[in-house]
Amino acid sequence: MLAKSLALSLACAALTTAQSSDLPSFTASVAPAAETVAPDATSANVALFEVEAVQLTDAVVADIQSNPDLAEYASLFEFEDSSNSTLSARTRRARRSLRCKTMPGDALYPSSLVWGIFDLLLGGALEKIVPIGSPCYKKSEYNNYNAAKCASLVANVGVEEIYYDDNGALMNPLYYGMTCPIPASGNYANGTCTQGGYSEYAVKVENVAQIQLAVNFARTLNLRLVVRNTGHDYNGRSVGKGALSIWTHGLKDIQYVKNYKSDAYSGPVFKVGAGVQGFELYQAADKYGVSAIAGICPTVGVFGGYSTGGGHSPLMQLFGVGADQVVALEVVLADGRFVTVTPSVNSDLYWAMLGGGGGTFGIITSAVVKVHRKVPVTVSTWTLLTSDTVTEDKFWEAVEFFWDSFPTYNSAKTYSYFTLMKLAPGTYMWSMSPFFATDMTVAQYETLIKPFYQKCAQLGITLNANTTYYDRFYPAYESTFGTLDFHVGGAGSTPGNRMLPTDNWANAQIRNQTFAALKNSVEYTLLTNVYHQHPADDQNKGINSVNPAFRNEESMVVTVNLITDETRAGWKAGNQQLQTQILGPLRDVSPNGGTYGNEADISEPNWQNAFWGKNYPRLQTIKAKYDPNMLFYVHHGVGTEGWAILDNDIVGVQSTDGPLCRV
Ligand SMILES: Cc1cc2nc3c(=O)[nH]c(=O)nc-3n(C[C@H](O)[C@H](O)[C@H](O)COP(=O)(O)OP(=O)(O)OC[C@H]3O[C@@H](n4cnc5c(N)ncnc54)[C@H](O)[C@@H]3O)c2cc1C
Ligand SMILES: *[C@@H]1O[C@H](CO)[C@@H](O)[C@H](O)[C@H]1NC(C)=O
Ligand SMILES: *[C@@H]1O[C@H](CO)[C@@H](O)[C@H](O)[C@H]1NC(C)=O
Ligand SMILES: *[C@@H]1O[C@H](CO)[C@@H](O)[C@H](O)[C@H]1NC(C)=O
Ligand SMILES: *[C@@H]1O[C@H](CO)[C@@H](O)[C@H](O)[C@H]1NC(C)=O
Repeated sequence: MLAKSLALSLACAALTTAQSSDLPSFTASVAPAAETVAPDATSANVALFEVEAVQLTDAVVADIQSNPDLAEYASLFEFEDSSNSTLSARTRRARRSLRCKTMPGDALYPSSLVWGIFDLLLGGALEKIVPIGSPCYKKSEYNNYNAAKCASLVANVGVEEIYYDDNGALMNPLYYGMTCPIPASGNYANGTCTQGGYSEYAVKVENVAQIQLAVNFARTLNLRLVVRNTGHDYNGRSVGKGALSIWTHGLKDIQYVKNYKSDAYSGPVFKVGAGVQGFELYQAADKYGVSAIAGICPTVGVFGGYSTGGGHSPLMQLFGVGADQVVALEVVLADGRFVTVTPSVNSDLYWAMLGGGGGTFGIITSAVVKVHRKVPVTVSTWTLLTSDTVTEDKFWEAVEFFWDSFPTYNSAKTYSYFTLMKLAPGTYMWSMSPFFATDMTVAQYETLIKPFYQKCAQLGITLNANTTYYDRFYPAYESTFGTLDFHVGGAGSTPGNRMLPTDNWANAQIRNQTFAALKNSVEYTLLTNVYHQHPADDQNKGINSVNPAFRNEESMVVTVNLITDETRAGWKAGNQQLQTQILGPLRDVSPNGGTYGNEADISEPNWQNAFWGKNYPRLQTIKAKYDPNMLFYVHHGVGTEGWAILDNDIVGVQSTDGPLCRV
């Protein structure tokens, strides 16, 4: 609880009323506003983590209210449903009716004294966000030019770790407005670096009380709020100009519960902190001799954007998508309250949060997820290039034979990920990386793949496939997906995708048309990544709001557009090409398909239907119930129709570099 004997030095108040991005330093300290409650099992049927037992309660808020030095600021930290608010209903209404979220520079934006008090109550968890690229610039408000640091950033621009270890960075710089990119070389020093669409402050979360304080503070002051985990999001949804960012990366607990039991599920589970990344979950599962579900990229966070957006995985054909694994969540809601979400407690939120997307309904602090038996895997990789012997026609005939076999491969409960690339006119590459044959020995896999091998032999193609058996998931994953370079950090390409349903393999004609749309994508993109994938879903249909198009897909096609001209005009033109020339034909050929929101292009049209299909109206109703004042805004998130970020088209596609306003 808050220390009663607080002696806030008022001298500092006079010192720091001027607006400044630096936090004031106080001569006296205030104990963090938090209380440790008993962590007993919640309705999730697992006890809270220690960090979740540290909470903001009504008693703590009452303490702030009754503290003579803090009373004046108490209203900023009160819950939405406070029976005893020190802020008049009129003031609340007035703030909420403002057209835009309050930005730095606005008269109503908190002074640095107020930020300082907030930081004291947080126990020092508030940090200023300085753009990650800023050490590369001589002229900037940050005054932190450092040639050696810049050289290291330039050398590591594609390394995910530099972004997720930073308190505000985004891996894809286009979407915050490119106002301070890590340059491609060290010669950028004369350029400019500004905050752009990056958030202003981060709360580096160590406990639940800090999240609740931040939610109450942002809601009461009409501030823009974002939630950020790793910064992987393709569309900039974990950053925002002028925003207070809640950074969950530090929530790293993992607990194994061998004999979990609830109404919905009995069996082994992990209780996992919201900051845990794919590789950490995979390693924990390997240690306990089980299998867990996460993405192909080891550093994506599992319970930020991934599971909430659906989540595809090399084990989905056996156990369902990421969202299907979750049996309970612990969540801070827009009203500041900390709640448990299960199929029977807050069941509407359970349905909505698993599929409805990250940063939209609340802030997850942990998830209870199913884990599964050990899975043996045979992996196979190959690279096929057009050549004197492998003509263009033969190349495509081989690819098409493989493509036509997707329903067979999916029925056999396997998965694959491969890249198709046009290297030069008439020159193509197919890189299988890898075929992931779960529950199969090499012999079983070779039986499945035999017709394709025979086709290749017939065409005079030698595949030189490298096929290896592993007795369990993690080493199979590590030796294949774990070695891929995911090319983060640049703005020279933008992705979009289409999930293609079984319909598209129904007869020779539609298969042919669909394949033509795929070839078209390869013709016009930097590269096209293709998955054969189909989730085991019979028991999962309807339990959550995962895109129905996920449930009947045979393939996901991720089109990665090349941007050669990195200017506003170049990005705009590239985006139009992606939408019309590349994604257009894939959409036209798959009226019953959909789009995976987590890897979608920022300008996806009719996104409500593409991301959620028939689930959208119910999602909208639940969003309106839990977040009626749009505390949690993300671009093309559920219920955001009346809002937009007014960025003056700074990079030719929607960025976060502008105020968030009602439109
Ligand atoms: C290189 C790369 C590889 C990828 N591979 C895969 C893959 O194999 N399979 C797949 O399905 N997807 C994949 N994705 C897409 C991935 O699922 C999304 O980018 C996802 O949004 C990342 O989530 P994050 O929490 O790590 O990222 P962040 O950018 O930090 O957050 C993403 C979204 O989640 C919200 N969020 C973050 N933390 C929380 C929280 N605690 N509570 C509520 N909301 C929160 C944010 O507000 C934001 O809207 C990949 C992406 C990249 C860049
Ligand atoms: C209500 O607020 C006052 C200060 O305004 C405080 O002293 C009191 O403890 C609060 N009561 C409750 C029940 O929170
Ligand atoms: C930066 O500007 C200085 C002087 O204004 C000039 O001498 C230098 O060559 C410039 N550097 C680059 C990389 O353009
Ligand atoms: C074959 O693939 C495995 C990964 O499964 C890899 O470790 C090995 O180096 C590869 N061998 C060759 C010859 O490429
Ligand atoms: C498929 O399309 C090609 C042209 O792209 C055509 O030559 C071929 O006959 C078509 N096959 C079928 C079965 O429709």
